[in-house]
Amino acid sequence: MKIAVIGCGYLGAVHAAAMASLGYETVGVDVDEAKIERLRRGEPPFYEPGLPELLRAGVDAGTLRFTTDVAEAAGSDVVFIAVGTPQRAGSDAADLTYVDAAIESLLPHLTEGTLVAGKSTVPVGTAQRLADLVTPTGARLAWNPEFLREGFAVEDTLTPDRLVYGVADADDASVARLDEVYATILARGTDRLVVNFATAELVKVSANAFLATKISFINAMAELSETVGADVTQLADAIGLDARIGRRFLNAGLGFGGGCLPKDIRAFQARAEELGHGQTLGFLREVDQINLRRRDRMVEVIDRELAAVGGDRVAMLGLAFKPNSDDVRDSPALDVSRRLQEGGRVVKAYDPEAAETARWVLPTLDIVGSIEEAIRGADVLALGTEWQHFRDLDPAEVAGMTAARVVVDGRNALDAAAWAAAGFKVIGLGRPDTV
Ligand code: UGA
Repeated sequence: MKIAVIGCGYLGAVHAAAMASLGYETVGVDVDEAKIERLRRGEPPFYEPGLPELLRAGVDAGTLRFTTDVAEAAGSDVVFIAVGTPQRAGSDAADLTYVDAAIESLLPHLTEGTLVAGKSTVPVGTAQRLADLVTPTGARLAWNPEFLREGFAVEDTLTPDRLVYGVADADDASVARLDEVYATILARGTDRLVVNFATAELVKVSANAFLATKISFINAMAELSETVGADVTQLADAIGLDARIGRRFLNAGLGFGGGCLPKDIRAFQARAEELGHGQTLGFLREVDQINLRRRDRMVEVIDRELAAVGGDRVAMLGLAFKPNSDDVRDSPALDVSRRLQEGGRVVKAYDPEAAETARWVLPTLDIVGSIEEAIRGADVLALGTEWQHFRDLDPAEVAGMTAARVVVDGRNALDAAAWAAAGFKVIGLGRPDTV
């Protein structure tokens, strides 16, 4: 089996490495020369636990290659499309430029029997449009959405919760081909659902919309809790014990960011509007607004605490949109840092992995090399990303390194009682203050 993966970003690089690890001769294709150069050396262009080992194993074994020449995808049994679908500039809709360009460049190299399998997140209706372009070449098209989380990308790719195949009517050949590709994963009893194109596209965006809604639901409860003196973390524990609700993705705090949930709910809503269903998905606008209001709240609380101690220096711990990632796309922690700076505050930030990516996005931010440097001289400490490293901090030790005695926990990740015992006032979003 020969596999090609077009697009070597977060999704494609992991998918290509995973395919090679399953024993297939795999080629990853991307237009970005610098990215391909790094991947050829077995170095991922971003931080993802487990990926360097997987890449190097494939590259060293000779089963995994990378190229900028799409012609090298010719002769593949399956060509996966894994390019990005970012938010279109000046609009909420998805930008399909990269998907369209990938298909266009691929068309001259497609032959009878090749399966083009889309993995990118696309607006419903896209797969059918692309199938109409692909089928005249004798190749077939399937939509096979991906549900990996950054930080767990390798694990999620090799041991997914489910596999979804979106195929054209009676296209048993594509189903059989995908079953062959995923044979090792299916042999573990992984659920596999065969659906039509529209369902496959909707499964992906509705899953992300549901997750975003769950987060914003608990953050709406956090807003209320702040007014009435309730504790949103206890509330989440209590409602989460109902198995129908579940405790996962009920962590209140700074809310969601990253390259997927924010742009996916906006694109979903924009597509619904095009389909005459603007009202149907109108609640996603609220989901987005609740999410963004948490950042306002964090800035407000930090400003209030700075005013109380008569200072203006903030230590921001964490910049990535979530732990185990160096991704700062739409990162709440970075957004809060930027807004504090715009308000004239002096921010020193530290992140174990995202310093380089954050510097690129916000060059004016003072990003330092250690926790100590960030907190020394600070008036207020703020937690923006719940890296394990920060959770594990010994508050008594921290108290010895800084004169600050206030910590604003934007992720409700710190042990508030332990920090309070070490002399800190702990403020969690949606929780009564611990003094
Ligand atoms: C998300 C989905 O979880 C994946 O299933 C999907 O495949 C992926 O998007 C995608 O479309 O490619 P990801 O963006 O990597 O994955 O990150 P998540 O783990 O979903 O976290 C998203 C954001 O929500 C983070 O900023 C995180 O801090 C925040 N979050 C998560 C909360 O604020 N509270 C929670 O309880 C959980």
